[in-house]
Amino acid sequence: MRNNRQNLRIGVDVGGSSIKCALVDLASGERLERHSVPTPAQGSIERMLDAIATAVDGLPAGLPVGLAFPSVITRGVVRTAAHVNRDWIGRPLERLAVERLARPVTAINDADAAGLGEQRYGAARGERGTVLLLTLGTGIGSALFTGGLLVPNTELGHLEVDGVEAELRAAPRIKTERGWSYEEWSAELNRVISRMHALLWPELIILCGGITDDADQFMPHLRCEAELRIGALRAEAGVVGAALATSLAAAAEA
Ligand code: BGC
Repeated sequence: MRNNRQNLRIGVDVGGSSIKCALVDLASGERLERHSVPTPAQGSIERMLDAIATAVDGLPAGLPVGLAFPSVITRGVVRTAAHVNRDWIGRPLERLAVERLARPVTAINDADAAGLGEQRYGAARGERGTVLLLTLGTGIGSALFTGGLLVPNTELGHLEVDGVEAELRAAPRIKTERGWSYEEWSAELNRVISRMHALLWPELIILCGGITDDADQFMPHLRCEAELRIGALRAEAGVVGAALATSLAAAAEA
């Protein structure tokens, strides 16, 4: 392998339907060896840990793992559970994953992970102003940066917009459930984005998630005072940012 082992980390991203995992070279953000398994979203804690272990299985031993999870995470503990089994609330994800994977683990909110990935290697690279990143999927995740620094666990997907939570208005899951066209969905996303913009005034808003593969179908309908960009790492921002989070955590401890 031409990549220097010292730069390699494992990134895991627990999504609504699949758990993605990759070996990531932090020097470049390059993804090597990708694996993916279905997410047992409402499954027990044991089942989720088993699935994460299956995703990581076979990757080099001893490498630190960054684990992106769709919940507020403080000090390695899960604090919310919008799209996973509610038994997770209060559970020490980081410690449980260290025990199960027998590797060092850093747990982080999934949207924050995607933000770190885009900030270091992708669409927000070099941006020093206020940047808001939204992950559009089963829910809506948010990551907020200023001066290149992350404000963790912002949870703007749960912001009420005209009486309805943002993610219940405009997550791609809702588009699918309601059978909306891209134009209909864009109208809801515009409401959500314009409310967030009115509160935070970011200079740049980055949109991530699988639906951005169809960006040409909805970007022409979006209106915002901030610049809108599609994430450069697409569906892999979370795994890349999770891997990066391991080195940020190590630097913070040093
Ligand atoms: C959760 C967030 C998560 C987002 C995207 C929301 O429902 O509350 O923590 O980042 O979904 O998965």
